[in-house]
Formats: sequence, C-alpha cells, structure tokens
Amino acid sequence: MTQDELKRQVAEAALKYAQEGVIGVGSGSTVNLFIDALASIKGRIEGAVAASEASAERLKKHGIRVFDLNSVNELPVYVDGADEVTEHLHMIKGGGGALTREKIIAAVAKKFVCICDASKLVPVMGKFPLPLEVIPMARSYVGREMLKRGAQPVLRENYKTDNGNLILDCHGLVLLDPPIIEAEFNNIAGVVTNGIFARRPADVLLLGEATGVRTLRKA
Ligand code: 5RP
Repeated sequence: MTQDELKRQVAEAALKYAQEGVIGVGSGSTVNLFIDALASIKGRIEGAVAASEASAERLKKHGIRVFDLNSVNELPVYVDGADEVTEHLHMIKGGGGALTREKIIAAVAKKFVCICDASKLVPVMGKFPLPLEVIPMARSYVGREMLKRGAQPVLRENYKTDNGNLILDCHGLVLLDPPIIEAEFNNIAGVVTNGIFARRPADVLLLGEATGVRTLRKA
C-alpha cells in the first residue's frame, strides 16, 4: 500500500466519528482526504469549523457549510492529522503551519481523532522539526531563546500563517517530556504557540497500516 492509500484508509475510517452537529476539521493532506470523504455524508452533519483557510475552501467546494468557531457552542469531534505521534497520543503538528488554529479547535472539541499513516508513530518526538508560530518582531529573540534550549531554529522561508505570523522550525530537539516542554516553549515572549500537542493530546488515534486501520485510545 502506498502512503496515500494508507492516508485514504484512515480518512474514511474517521467518518464514523462524524455523526451529527458541527465537525472540527484540521488541515494537511490526510485531512484533505477526510474532507473529500465527508462530502459523501454531508447530509447528516450541520457543517464544519476549519483550522485553515485551505481546509475552509475545500469544505465549501464540496458544499459543506463552514462555521466561525465563535458561532458554535460545542464541537463533538475534531479530526486532524499529525507530523509525529506517540503511543501516549502526544503529537507534533504544524508541518502545514496551521498549528495555532488547530490547537484552539482541539481545545474546544470534546473528542480529538488523530488520523495518520503508520510512518508518523514514533517512540520519542523531535526528529520532525518542531514548528513555533512567532510574532514577526520577536523572530530573532525567539530564535536566540531556542538556541539556548538546544534547538536549531530555521525560519520557514516565504511563509506567513493565516494569522499573519512567522514559523520557526526547530531542529535537533528530543522531546522526552512533551507536556512540560510544551508549556515552557509557550512561555517565551513572542511565541503564539508551539506545535507540541501534549497538554491536550488526541483521544483516539487511527493509524493506517498495511494490515488495516489500528485504533489506539488515550489511557
Ligand atoms: C498542519 C498539520 C497537519 O496535520 C500535519 O502537518 C500532517 O499533515 P499531513 O496529513 O499532510 O501529513 O499539523 O499544520
């Protein structure tokens, strides 16, 4: 099976969590496949809240109503991908730059369903460079702070987030205690958020493997 086939498999498996109401939808290539699958059952949901402008556009093209998060009181489920995930359902996210909106929607949602192909499951996170969304005037300061913490920060070139900010991709980290490090990096002035999702991990992980979809749940 190709990586795309594994992604499609988990995207389709996630449909069973989209039963009613407004669905939280993340961003990335796996989520794009989820949005395409969601179109086949759009009659049973009210619509979606999207974590990126790109996802919102794709939802609208399929005729799925897109809500502003402020107009929604509750979100039963949020479906999103990840760049790395552990068996504790901690994640690194933000490869697509949408980490801040993703973290906000994850905070609101009752259930976070992470959809990934098997290559994303790791024993310890950090091989994938950790994205930090940074206020532009704080770029150099945050870079220096991350160097002190053992990372090699690299500015994502020619890139602006949907919120008008920059991304620093931080290489060389070994994230042994993700919830603690998540809080520490978020405390650096000028960091909007970082791509560790551990204080609010996923509740369910659907992992696409050659033998089928494996479901892991938060302990
Ligand atoms: C975007 C994300 C994505 O979920 C993550 O990058 C995974 O993307 P893909 O499904 O394309 O591998 O966090 O900000």
